[in-house]
Amino acid sequence: MTTPLRIVAVSGSLQQPSRTRALTVSLLTGLERALVAEKRDVQSHLVDLGEISESLARTFSRASAPRELEAHLRAIETADALIVASPVYRASYTGLFKHLFDLVHHETLFDVPVLLAATGGSERHALVIDHQLRPLLSFFQAHTLPVGVYGSEADFHDYRVSSQLLSARIALAIERAAPLVAQRPRRTDVQIAA
Ligand SMILES: Cc1cc2nc3c(=O)[nH]c(=O)nc-3n(C[C@H](O)[C@H](O)[C@H](O)COP(=O)(O)O)c2cc1C
Repeated sequence: MTTPLRIVAVSGSLQQPSRTRALTVSLLTGLERALVAEKRDVQSHLVDLGEISESLARTFSRASAPRELEAHLRAIETADALIVASPVYRASYTGLFKHLFDLVHHETLFDVPVLLAATGGSERHALVIDHQLRPLLSFFQAHTLPVGVYGSEADFHDYRVSSQLLSARIALAIERAAPLVAQRPRRTDVQIAA
């Protein structure tokens, strides 16, 4: 058994059900499978803003974060790799998605591989990945992966990924991410909460 890699996925939608959550879970399960095929054990964790939006919105500083939110923040800060997704709201990520990352310590994501993803009403805002998400994760000096995944509403049916094009893009992103993530040693640079 290898020491498990911690893969943490963040879905930035405030809605339930959510296309962004469906895309995030597809990426997470696909990456888990690919890493297991590369002989790496995986521990995965999902941060769904639709589930924690109220406590997140009430938390203005890290010191006052309730226990459940603190556990999600620590999971992000100690991840060996991240999947980070948001719906497009007014040509950017959601406000609470940004608020979540405002609470993440700015020195905890150096060189951490991050797979970026987004969903929008149409294809017009697909560059939100490169113009909004990538700069935010670059601030953290994370290693944003070159292949991002964008889905528009037409790519989903009943809040599930339904288009072949989006499925193919998910597969490509995983195929490119898995070898890079698999060869990483488990992080020891961050204190792991009990
Ligand atoms: C407040 C709000 C603002 C939005 N702004 C945009 C936008 O600027 N561009 C776009 O393509 N879609 C926009 N949308 C559509 C959502 O991005 C799209 O429906 C997305 O798939 C919703 O994801 P969810 O199902 O995970 O909540 C907006 C939706 C809301 C509720």
